[in-house]
Amino acid sequence: MSVDPNSELVVTCGSTEAMMAAMMSVTNPGDKVIVFSPFYENYGADTILSNAQPIYVPLVPPDYNFDPAVLEDAFRQKPKAIIVCNPSNPSGKVFTREELTIIADLAKKYDSFVITDEVYEHILYKPFVHTYMASLPGMRDRTIVCNSLSKTYSITGWRLGYTQANPEVTERIKKVHDFLTVGAAAPLQEAAVTGLRFDDAYYADLQQKYTHKRNLFLQGLRDIGLPHTEPQGAYYIMIDISEFGYESDLEFAEVLARDVGVGTVPGSSFFRENENRYVRIHFAKKDETLNEALNRLSDIRKKITPRT
Ligand SMILES: Cc1ncc(COP(=O)(O)O)c(C=O)c1O
Repeated sequence: MSVDPNSELVVTCGSTEAMMAAMMSVTNPGDKVIVFSPFYENYGADTILSNAQPIYVPLVPPDYNFDPAVLEDAFRQKPKAIIVCNPSNPSGKVFTREELTIIADLAKKYDSFVITDEVYEHILYKPFVHTYMASLPGMRDRTIVCNSLSKTYSITGWRLGYTQANPEVTERIKKVHDFLTVGAAAPLQEAAVTGLRFDDAYYADLQQKYTHKRNLFLQGLRDIGLPHTEPQGAYYIMIDISEFGYESDLEFAEVLARDVGVGTVPGSSFFRENENRYVRIHFAKKDETLNEALNRLSDIRKKITPRT
């Protein structure tokens, strides 16, 4: 359950388009939107493309918690909306009910929408559980859910997403969507219905498969001794590269790809703050690939000389 099971969905070309349509539907040029940092790269661009102004609020590593006082300072600037990615890319954070309640109370107090990105709602690791923002008291009409079939059904190339919102916002999203892309490919939508009819066993199996991959990769990183985050949801790990002394995480990621043979994304591409201590790796891969990556990483200290 995210909003009303009977509410109308707008099927979009991926949740990235869903997010863009949601932003364009509730903001006017110059309006502010709160974005937690680190964030999925598209949010910054979506805000700018819809002529809104992002207000960044840090999720502070290594636990990626936010300071409620800093968040309220951001709300005092009267943003039209806040974006909440839960479970979160890149941090792997799953927002607790208490944290979501703090955000919800502020959204109500300052009359803002909450735009959620819940594409990883089914990729969770015990004991963490997903709480739907829209299920919190008074939040049903204030939440715009952006979701996707990409991750849940392992069809990332299909670009099938959707929004779910109150009827008035949905009407606005339909108009924006009509001019952004007209519609997602109809045959893919029909095929996706098969997935939507899967029973609970499918989702339990999905969790179990990702839990296995997460455990495999985390154990490997522990054995190698590379400091890292332990994701609560989604399938990303931030590896702390401080010991190598690189000023640029981009340069480190290039050296890692070239000399160790493992591809990562420099952490700075997700942070608003000047943060160069991390590279992000993901484990949505076959076990052989994960084992090979760990095998290559086991030599990292022989292959990358620390800079002092
Ligand atoms: C947080 C988040 N939102 C959205 C997307 C994109 O989803 P879609 O395939 O539906 O465009 C991704 C993909 O990496 C993601 O990590």
